[in-house]
Amino acid sequence: MKNDGLCILAIESSCDDTSVAILKERNVLSNITASQDVHKKYGGVIPELASRSHEQNIIPVTEEALKVASISLKEVDAVVYTKGPGLAGSLIVGNAFAKSLAMSLNIPLIGVNHMHAHIMAHFIEGIHPNNPVFPFLCLTVSGGHTQLVLVKDYFDLEVVGSTLDDAAGEAFDKIAKMFGMDYPGGPLLDKQAQQGNPLAFDFPKPKVDNFNFSFSGLKTSVLYFLKKRLNEDPEFIATNLNDLCASVQRIIVEILMEKLAKCAAYYSIKEIALAGGVSANSFLRKSLKEREKSLGWKTYIPPIQYCTDNAAMIGITGLLKLKNNDVEALDSVSGARMPLAFL
Ligand code: KG4
Ligand code: ZN
Repeated sequence: MKNDGLCILAIESSCDDTSVAILKERNVLSNITASQDVHKKYGGVIPELASRSHEQNIIPVTEEALKVASISLKEVDAVVYTKGPGLAGSLIVGNAFAKSLAMSLNIPLIGVNHMHAHIMAHFIEGIHPNNPVFPFLCLTVSGGHTQLVLVKDYFDLEVVGSTLDDAAGEAFDKIAKMFGMDYPGGPLLDKQAQQGNPLAFDFPKPKVDNFNFSFSGLKTSVLYFLKKRLNEDPEFIATNLNDLCASVQRIIVEILMEKLAKCAAYYSIKEIALAGGVSANSFLRKSLKEREKSLGWKTYIPPIQYCTDNAAMIGITGLLKLKNNDVEALDSVSGARMPLAFL
């Protein structure tokens, strides 16, 4: 370790992004991601192709991250990797590479929970004028998860609500696919929605108890609605694409915001954060900012590059774990299904 703090090399490979970051303490020196276009034509992630792309990308992405950070391997103090949850084959590539690096450099290995990391991204240096104050409530919305998490401390998190079926990102992607968009459709739908009328169409919202969510009903009602309209007019989607996107986006965001507001009121919390890929959504970001004024919340939204999957968030979480002396043995295994209770 140099006088200017710990140097972390972090690896993220849980799904279809191969990402490597270099951090000096909480400062991100580089954060390089290779996204895998190979899945586009299949309309979703093909696990075996994802594993192979990670094998192909992981060394070049690491070399690029070291180069951009102007750091040599011998300056690295610890290797951090995503231990789970995610695709088994993708995680194994990251695990094996991280272990080899840790062994050859004779430095600590740290495994990180991907969903924990999405939340800890808020503690990257310089992204907010002030850090979120514990306890805060985090709406974590990604392609595989939709959770309301009570964050009492760095390592004391409680999931107080989650989806009973599809995740919010999954709903965006599956509905975008019905509209004929490529995978992942979430960002494309967001872009298209900017020119549409969010009130043009309405769809029923689910009735779910407590702070839980459900998105599969919305997906089905959009499907039946489209079938009916396309029967009457085969050009229905093409003619109404902007309005369809804006309306679906409004409904998904309203479902999220209503539960978030209910949960925040129940726990009397006004420190509210967003995390995960869907927090890149422009309408969700705008809606949260509006609540800042109307409900007196203090809100924390990460810059886009720290919303979607990235290794910098893995790095900051690993740094916090290292400072807690929470390192792991070199025979550790990754876990495709890893609840947030495993930190
Ligand atoms: O966190 P993430 O990068 O990967 C997972 O851990 O799943 O989240 C990916 C999800 C995808 O479903 C993608 O469509 C969605 O985030 N997403 C968006 C936007 N950007 C990414 N959804 C809606 N609007 C966006 N702008
Ligand atoms: Zn993620």
